[in-house]
Amino acid sequence: MTEVVGATHQFHEADYAEDWARRFEPTPERLHLFETILQQLQSVVPADGHIVELGIGPAYLAEYLLERMPHISYEGVDFSEPMLKQAATRLARFGERVQCQQADLLDDSWVSDLARPAAAIVSTWALHDLGGQTQTSKVYRACAAALPEGGILLNGDFVKPDGTRLPFEPGRFLIGRHLELLKEAGFADRRCLHLWEEELEAPTSSQNYACLLGIVGRKV
Ligand SMILES: C[S@@+](CC[C@H](N)C(=O)[O-])C[C@H]1O[C@@H](n2cnc3c(N)ncnc32)[C@H](O)[C@@H]1O
Repeated sequence: MTEVVGATHQFHEADYAEDWARRFEPTPERLHLFETILQQLQSVVPADGHIVELGIGPAYLAEYLLERMPHISYEGVDFSEPMLKQAATRLARFGERVQCQQADLLDDSWVSDLARPAAAIVSTWALHDLGGQTQTSKVYRACAAALPEGGILLNGDFVKPDGTRLPFEPGRFLIGRHLELLKEAGFADRRCLHLWEEELEAPTSSQNYACLLGIVGRKV
């Protein structure tokens, strides 16, 4: 039987979360994803805007953005206490600019519990873990509701690449389907900015990730 491309995680266990952070220190490719996200944020987010990250994990992206956008405030959402501890340690030097919220992204209450209204929402390598298209769609809808007109969502997540014959776990699906779900959620403009480490024949679970951009349209 062909193996399904994907991975299982124990994010609530401290040893696992620490090991995950060590194994996935940012590579040059992932730093390019971070830079792609930064460039989009810099063109849209007010200098002192509030950025929300879904599934902040060890806070590698957060650190990258907070260093380069010196006046933003930042809020990381994650359901894992060990991951939030790592994030708090890594981001301690940014003081009151950073807040963390422990919440399950499948429960929309993270939106009403935000410390400040979000100017942009970002996420990397997280939403595929929610389980599938229905769950991703739910989060896309919550993001569209949380953002103002012109607000952006940047989701840098694992996808199933076009043209592969392999089965992927349900949370990893085609870029075209992501774009449909973004449209249904209320993102008036949406596109895929880039696909990294594309591998159709023998992918590992840390290849094939894209940066999907959604821009909220006029709210009536
Ligand atoms: C693969 S890690 C990625 C971490 C980080 N975004 C990065 O790219 O380095 C996925 C993160 O999403 C979080 N996560 C997964 N499912 C979640 C859920 N249902 N609600 C909140 N956080 C979740 C995990 O705890 C973990 O920190």
